Amino acid sequence: MVKPIIVKFGGSAITYKHKPFSLRKQVLYRLARELRASSAPLLLVHGGGSFAHPLAKRYQKNLVAGFLEIHRAMERLNSKVMEALERARIPAISIPPSSFIRVRRGEIVKSEVSLIKWLLEKRIVPVTYGDIFPDNRGACIVSGDKIVCHLAMRLHARLAIFCMDVDGIYIKEKDKMLLASEFSFDDLSKLVELPTRVADVTGGIREKIQEALRLADTPTHVCFINGLKKGLLSRTLKGERGLGTEIH
Ligand code: IPE
Repeated sequence: MVKPIIVKFGGSAITYKHKPFSLRKQVLYRLARELRASSAPLLLVHGGGSFAHPLAKRYQKNLVAGFLEIHRAMERLNSKVMEALERARIPAISIPPSSFIRVRRGEIVKSEVSLIKWLLEKRIVPVTYGDIFPDNRGACIVSGDKIVCHLAMRLHARLAIFCMDVDGIYIKEKDKMLLASEFSFDDLSKLVELPTRVADVTGGIREKIQEALRLADTPTHVCFINGLKKGLLSRTLKGERGLGTEIH
């Protein structure tokens, strides 16, 4: 099978994070169009942004009670993403993550990827998302980032692209904040966690980078780019590097 590229549309890029249920429609529609630049099979994962994070925060102490509401919020955002893909004439199918992923103690323990592989072979884009999952303790939230990293390993993805609302990963060196062009385990202590204006139940940038570092020394190259800036996604898909932060 041709090795796929996995793209994550971060919730902070496709929604306005300070206002519940508000879509950044122009950004979403442009990102969907930029996906056309890929010549490799694509898999898309999206986050929850202001559709799901505030709800997940509200039900943090009893996620089972919020199961339906949180999942419905993700479905609502997913339907917007699917509309954008349709408008961009990208053949895509939505797959609810709990239909193929099993979770225990908040971690992905198993996935059934035969449908995804079949779709990739047929050049249909499977679309999935961070969501609320049943697990042995009740329910838990699994981020889109975790799903990207898991699927990148299972499918031997050539590239994972995280579209964010900032230029990449920032580090602090000699009291100066710098955009890291490359990031490795050694840089974790220098990581700058930019303040987020919304409840982020999946741990913010540190969690994201820790997940992505699991792909260091695997065949998957990781790029963090600014999804709000026009053209960066299509240029990354075409093979250009150095447009944000990378993990090899
Ligand atoms: C969050 O997924 C899913 C829920 C809160 C249900 P992500 O953690 O990947 O979302 P973003 O990209 O940070 O918004």
